[in-house]
Amino acid sequence: MTTYDNTSLPIGIFDSGVGGLTVLQAIRDELPSENLIYLGDTARLPYGTKSPASIARYAAQATAKLLEHDIKMLVIACNTASAVALESLQEQMHPVPVIGVVVPGALAAVAARPGGAHLVLATEATVRLGAYGKAISRHDPKARVKEQACELLVALAEEGWTNGDIADSIVRRYLADAEHGEFKADSIILGCTHFPLLRDVISEIAGDDVAVVDSAGTTASVVRETLTASGGLVACNGRGKLKLLATDGAMRFARVGGQFLGEALTVEDVQLVDL
Ligand code: DGL
Repeated sequence: MTTYDNTSLPIGIFDSGVGGLTVLQAIRDELPSENLIYLGDTARLPYGTKSPASIARYAAQATAKLLEHDIKMLVIACNTASAVALESLQEQMHPVPVIGVVVPGALAAVAARPGGAHLVLATEATVRLGAYGKAISRHDPKARVKEQACELLVALAEEGWTNGDIADSIVRRYLADAEHGEFKADSIILGCTHFPLLRDVISEIAGDDVAVVDSAGTTASVVRETLTASGGLVACNGRGKLKLLATDGAMRFARVGGQFLGEALTVEDVQLVDL
């Protein structure tokens, strides 16, 4: 287990874009005093349509950039990168803990609907790897899982079109595609860090009987548990610092990222970096 000389080091968090800010926000709510550094690889978004080899390379480069900032823990706030690269990054980073978002998301769904039928909305790469199906059946062998690739939902979230007619009809189409034959979902897993922005429209179309879950809250709990177990929680009580890095489009990052964080960001809040 890691021991910490300096608990004020930041937690490093990365995603392909701004979607992982939903996870960052949950970590900030859970652990407000922690210092956080977030990297959005906006130059190469989306990861979800790329090959596993490219995604693994991008994830390793994002991790290397965060390591320059001396992080005490890494959170892969991207389902696609978690599905592809969690194990290799855990090996590479040892003894620094590395947490992905797929297993926490799977656990949230299993807790919400034990033995249930789970519909996973995710990127093509996450679906291709069957990441959620494997994680759910490990924890709940009776559960049934269907995984549906929803690439357009990433674009909707990035564009900030998270409600209204266009969001409504695209979500309806994906849910109709997923739910034919025998499959009727008890839970919908937002298996992409962008999708919590579309939670309202997804919940409304899915109906009250369907639990809509994401991995942000459960990932934040895993971060807390891991740091608590290893004595790594920051010692002070003040508000932690937040540093935002992006690989392209600082202005867009500030505009859309502000919506994800629920607070206004300016271009000065975002530092552009090369990987
Ligand atoms: N944030 C990514 C995820 O959670 C989706 C966006 C992308 O394809 O890069 O899978």
